[in-house]
Amino acid sequence: MLTISVIKADIGGFVGHSASHPDILALGQEWLTRAQQKGLLIDSHVSHCGDDMFLIMTHERGEDNEEIHKLAWDTFIAGTEVAKKLKLYGAGQDLLTDAFSGNIKGAGPGSAEMEIEERPSEPIIVFMADKTSAGAFNLPLYKMFADPFNTPGLIIAEPLHKGFRFQVQDVQNHKQIELDAPNELYDLLVFIGAPSRYAIKRIYNRLTGEIAAVSSTDKLSLIAGRYVGKDDPAVVVRCQGNFPAVGEVIEPFTTPWIVEGWMRGSHHGPLMPVALKDAHPSRFDGPPRLVSLGFQLANGKLIGPRDLFDDPGYDHTREEANHIADFLRKHGPFEPHRLPLEEMEYTTMPAVAAKLEGRWTDLADDGNKKKIMAAPIAEVE
Ligand code: F6R
Ligand code: MG
Ligand code: MG
Repeated sequence: MLTISVIKADIGGFVGHSASHPDILALGQEWLTRAQQKGLLIDSHVSHCGDDMFLIMTHERGEDNEEIHKLAWDTFIAGTEVAKKLKLYGAGQDLLTDAFSGNIKGAGPGSAEMEIEERPSEPIIVFMADKTSAGAFNLPLYKMFADPFNTPGLIIAEPLHKGFRFQVQDVQNHKQIELDAPNELYDLLVFIGAPSRYAIKRIYNRLTGEIAAVSSTDKLSLIAGRYVGKDDPAVVVRCQGNFPAVGEVIEPFTTPWIVEGWMRGSHHGPLMPVALKDAHPSRFDGPPRLVSLGFQLANGKLIGPRDLFDDPGYDHTREEANHIADFLRKHGPFEPHRLPLEEMEYTTMPAVAAKLEGRWTDLADDGNKKKIMAAPIAEVE
């Protein structure tokens, strides 16, 4: 069995929160290459989206393996040292604990792992996002695996026709449920339509039971109990044969879906699919970006990547994303551009509310109303 592990973290931004510094990425690749030479990994590829570094690794040690998680943790710690030396912004930002305790889950970094029997030909896509939250993939994953208007294979390809099973996590209450599409579609949508609370973790082919997709659902703010940074999730999707075709997997991103994140993690903005060369959010710290890297696996080796959004077929989506960005920005500090109070990552509300506490009066206090209205008239006279 082969395991694909994608573990990611923001360990320092260059400049501000806009990108990763090349020295950090080079160091990350150095560490993983050394782990390959020692036989811990089969292969690895270090990539980035915005200020997040993504470690894409293949090995035979299964999911949640302590050695693999420790390798990722140590790589992030070493990268943080470089970030500190260069005084990069937010060095070590996502590393929330002082010491590694056996598993990277709950320590800050996000992880998406799947164990597979490598097929004779195994195309996979790794999605990497920046300036958005876990749950941002609910809608596109739904379209890939449950919407026949996106994925004709659901109708006309025998191995897809029975549909897919969705494992959904309630990220606030640490619970999970499995729901089948198409038969439980309406029940599924009740939950995944609320992506700040419910996130799709895994998807399985119902005919074969094979794992089809996995996403990182780690919520930084819930782990830390305060705002640290955005989750900036990763997703791995298997393609072709018993799964949607590559083109069906990336088709949902022809719409720049509105997601949570962007400036200060407190705004709605369009998710813009970009080539790696454009995976550097700048305008208003965004708009949120998405990269998709395609690989062919060959006995665990990562053949690739192919930068799948580096395609004029997505030019109009990026243009639409810019129009949506302009439109939303016009709302300034108003909802629905700004997130609802309970979803905001930054807020001055408690401090401002405390300061003004004594100035609120009862709506029914008519005497006070007369006093306010009478004051300027008296002055005029
Ligand atoms: C959003 C993000 C940025 C920062 C913003 C302020 O996920 O990373 O938009 O929130 O640049 O950053 P600080 O508070 O670090 O100055
Ligand atoms: Mg950052
Ligand atoms: Mg980030």
